[in-house]
Amino acid sequence: MTRLQDKVCIITGAGSGMGRVAARMFRAQGARVVAADISERDGEETVSAVKESGNGDIVFVRADVSREEDCADLVRETVRRFGRLDALYNNAGIMPEGDHSVVDTAVDTWDQVQSVNTKGIYLCCKYGIPAMVRSGGGSVINVASFVALVGCSVPQDSYTASKGAVIALTKSLAVQFGPRGVRANAICPGPIETPMLTEWLLSDPEAKALRPLRGHRPPGHLPGVRRVDVDQRRHARGRRGHHVELFLISHRQVSKDRPGKTSGRKTPGMGDADGVRVAGRVCA
Ligand SMILES: NC(=O)c1ccc[n+]([C@@H]2O[C@H](COP(=O)([O-])OP(=O)(O)OC[C@H]3O[C@@H](n4cnc5c(N)ncnc54)[C@H](O)[C@@H]3O)[C@@H](O)[C@H]2O)c1
Repeated sequence: MTRLQDKVCIITGAGSGMGRVAARMFRAQGARVVAADISERDGEETVSAVKESGNGDIVFVRADVSREEDCADLVRETVRRFGRLDALYNNAGIMPEGDHSVVDTAVDTWDQVQSVNTKGIYLCCKYGIPAMVRSGGGSVINVASFVALVGCSVPQDSYTASKGAVIALTKSLAVQFGPRGVRANAICPGPIETPMLTEWLLSDPEAKALRPLRGHRPPGHLPGVRRVDVDQRRHARGRRGHHVELFLISHRQVSKDRPGKTSGRKTPGMGDADGVRVAGRVCA
């Protein structure tokens, strides 16, 4: 029996980086996965890759998480295909080049980031949580970031503010919906080598200056950055394959008397070997 046997999970931003890794991991653990992404090409690529590895119960649904009708359709389609919803992995996020300090970020860029990173989670929860309550309970996992805990010397202020909002919202969800069987937790990954981070490190002049590099090195060689390797259970540069997410989904349902046991947590992921330092405490 695998850890997520027959659990129905939505993963947003499943077309790339950590979302793609999660899709593979969740499927390998027996979940039925709805891989959602704004990019049809990338989302379908994730589905093909997972199917090629022999794990078939995965479908792609195109969804822009900043659009209410897309989020409603995503949840409706999930329940139509699989009959229920057990986990909502709110992973989609953006960090556009123009997002910098408050003093030089355009209002449009600020709004664009908030619209995906914050409003996107609100909208997915708006439709996803009632579906989980109807399924008898579930688990919301919101992807925040270490920058919301410690800041970043090369600013991406809208991004950082959005991730702080994700943590605050997660606490509110945990308190509200724990008594109805839905846990909510945020994870705060440290730097992980995905297209999002690589593009930033290679394009932002200040970020570039932070790197003790002479010239470009190919992905897999960014100092201080952990690499996501979709084919490895243990990522090449340190982070183990989404074990905290598996725990947060597979953990037994909260009891109505003790709703907070594994809900309302944020799991910082910087500076430790596994990227999930608090997981052990949650497990205890
Ligand atoms: N990579 C890191 O170092 C790092 C660190 C901390 C937190 N995070 C967070 O982890 C999450 C995943 O990041 P990643 O590094 O894998 O990024 P990524 O850019 O590789 O993947 C993000 C995915 O989200 C999708 N997406 C973007 N906008 C969307 C929208 N409106 N609707 C639906 N899908 C959309 C993209 O198409 C892409 O497939 C993000 O929330 C990010 O903020 C990343």
